[in-house]
Amino acid sequence: MLPYGRQSIAEEDIEAVVAVLRGDWLTTGPAVTAFEEQISKLCGGHRAVSCTSGTAALHIAYAALGVGPGDEVVTTPMTFVATASGATLHGATVRFADVEPDSGLIDPDAVDATVGERTTVVAAVDYAGHPCDYDRLQQIADRVGAVTLADAAHSIGGSYRGRPVGSLADVTTFSFFPTKNLTTAEGGAVVAKDDAVGRRAAEFHNIGLVRDPDRFRLDDVGPWHQEVHELGLNYRLTDVACALGLSQLARLDMFKRRRAQITARYNAALAQVPGVATPPQREDVDPVWHLYPVRILDGRRREVFEAMRAAGIGVQVNYLPVYWHPAYADLGYRRGMCPNAEAFYAQQLSLPMFPDLTDDQVDRVVETLSGILR
Ligand SMILES: Cc1ncc(COP(=O)(O)O)c(C=O)c1O
Repeated sequence: MLPYGRQSIAEEDIEAVVAVLRGDWLTTGPAVTAFEEQISKLCGGHRAVSCTSGTAALHIAYAALGVGPGDEVVTTPMTFVATASGATLHGATVRFADVEPDSGLIDPDAVDATVGERTTVVAAVDYAGHPCDYDRLQQIADRVGAVTLADAAHSIGGSYRGRPVGSLADVTTFSFFPTKNLTTAEGGAVVAKDDAVGRRAAEFHNIGLVRDPDRFRLDDVGPWHQEVHELGLNYRLTDVACALGLSQLARLDMFKRRRAQITARYNAALAQVPGVATPPQREDVDPVWHLYPVRILDGRRREVFEAMRAAGIGVQVNYLPVYWHPAYADLGYRRGMCPNAEAFYAQQLSLPMFPDLTDDQVDRVVETLSGILR
């Protein structure tokens, strides 16, 4: 089965990991520091905190922003559940704003109509690796005194109006799961523009431990001392994982170029195929195509999904609208709330997309899809 996404591991990645295994540090050591510095550099110099997954990154980000009961977080339903559940787990109420019908990206007009005086965070998702319209989202968030969060699980390495992903929202989260644009096996990161938010993220991901003597609240303590002011969790990424991440970061430009080539090849070939809509790209963005999401028209998505899988092509569907998950239905969310997202979900199909995918494999995907639709 041709997978829909897959890591690219080179000899240099393996050597980087082995070198750490031969050294003194397995957990928080120099590779963690170096990886966080490189992520920070890529994101306009803002503080980066590495962590164990994109899900952890979202949980940390909402904690660092002080999200809790009484707060409302406005986000998109066209995402992986963690974008919303990270806030729900802190006791906040999630409000879903609908997406643009063609791109699946959160629609700023819908956000504008959904925010209110209780909104503390507007959380956008760079679906498929295409950055959202952050200037508009920031304007809307500013108007109601909220902050912006970019779930950039798909879009590390991309940019919007010449500014890099990681510098577009007040807080950005990444995932380094194997199918993503670069991997640490499991892994993620939080980038914060505000130093206090960055520090809070670092503390939450490290059990809440405070080690800076200038901030100690207890008196008469020894050099061994550390204390907890706000409770946190152990979400630390390891030196082993960060060594892989550093090596992968050095290959990110190449990954991005190859993903763009594959996208161009799909776009050109599928332009002639009736019954399928290719993903749009807005003028002012430079995406990193993590997914290649098409829409299958005429109510044929399930049939196409099954026939592609039967032909050995590992297509996927991204995503079930978040509020359709029983956990959200149990909280009272009802179908019909975001009709564009529901229509998008009904048509959506992700075709194979990963850097090691060959042109011949792309052509086979296109031929199989065209054959099914013919
Ligand atoms: C948009 C989005 N947000 C968050 C996550 C969570 O990342 P992870 O799988 O690393 O926990 C993912 C990945 O599955 C994702 O696609």
